[in-house]
Amino acid sequence: MTWITAGKLEDIEQEGAIRFDHGGRTYAIYRGPDDSVYCTAGLCTHEAIHLADGLVIDFEVECPKHSGAFDYRTGEALRLPACENLKTYPAEVVDGEVRVALG
Ligand code: FES
Repeated sequence: MTWITAGKLEDIEQEGAIRFDHGGRTYAIYRGPDDSVYCTAGLCTHEAIHLADGLVIDFEVECPKHSGAFDYRTGEALRLPACENLKTYPAEVVDGEVRVALG
């Protein structure tokens, strides 16, 4: 597994998300209410909308377009019209830096 540094934890708000582009793909990285970090595919599975622009509450992200929602820890689609789960990737914090494994 290859870990890639995606930024600093302090640059992501608690219960917030950032967009991270790498290798021609786009991802969303989330900081949970307990400072844990998670990474999912960046685009909603309903239509290709960036989830990092959505509303993060607790461990859910709400898509900014049609209010579909996902559990960003597991990628599970929680609310229609989103019905296909998101792909998830390992994420961790080391010395204040957020690292993700996208392989
Ligand atoms: S584009 Fe995300 S719910 Fe429709």
